Amino acid sequence: MPTTKTRTSARTRSLRTSNGSASKSSDQKQTKASNGKSSKSENGSANGNSQLDKLFTDSLKDIYWAEKHLTKTLPKMKKKATTDELKSAIEEHLAQTEEHVSRLEQVFEICGKKAQAKKCDAMEGLTKEADSIVEETEANTMTRDAGIIMAAQKVEHYEIASYGTLCSFAKTLGMDKEAELLEETLNEEKEADPKLSQVAESSINEEAMQETE
Ligand SMILES: [Fe+2]
Ligand SMILES: [Fe+2]
Repeated sequence: MPTTKTRTSARTRSLRTSNGSASKSSDQKQTKASNGKSSKSENGSANGNSQLDKLFTDSLKDIYWAEKHLTKTLPKMKKKATTDELKSAIEEHLAQTEEHVSRLEQVFEICGKKAQAKKCDAMEGLTKEADSIVEETEANTMTRDAGIIMAAQKVEHYEIASYGTLCSFAKTLGMDKEAELLEETLNEEKEADPKLSQVAESSINEEAMQETE
C-alpha cells in the first residue's frame, strides 16, 4: 500500500537522521543512544523491535514451514523417482533437510523466540508443481526423473534465496551466531543444486531424450 510505504520510508529516514533531539519512539531513542551505523547490533537481536527484526522473524517462520513441509514431500519424490542415483540424492538431501529444521529451531532459541511455522505459499506452490510433473510423466521413465530433478532444483533455488537473505539480515542485525547457523544451511543448499545437475547430466537427460510418447 502506498500509504504504508510512505510511512515506512519516512520512519526509516527518521531513524537514520535522528541525532540528539528529543525523540518519542523507542526506535528513535535507540538510534540516538547508539548513533548511526554503530547502532546495528543494538538495533537487532538485543532489542528485537526494529522493522528488519520483524521481517527477519517472519521470514524465519516462512522457511521453517518450508523445511518442515519438505521433510514430508521429499520422501514422496524419492518414491516416485526411477534411478537409484536420484533416489539416493533425494535421500541424502532429506537427511540434510531434517538438520535444517533443527538448525532453524536453534536460531529461534538463540533469538529467544518460540519456533513457529508460517505457511510458505511459494514452497507449497513449488511442491504442487513437483506433484504435477509426476502426474504428467510416466512411471519408471527417465523423463520423470528429469522432471523431478527440475522441480527439486527450483526448491533449492528458493531455499538459496531465502537463506542468503536471512544471513544478510542476521549480519545486519548483529546476530552473529544466528548468521553462522543460517550460513551453514545456505552452503548445503548451494551444494545440493550442482549435485542434482550432475545426476541429471550423467545420463538421465540423454536417456529421457530417447523416450518417445
Ligand atoms: Fe533446506
Ligand atoms: Fe534444500
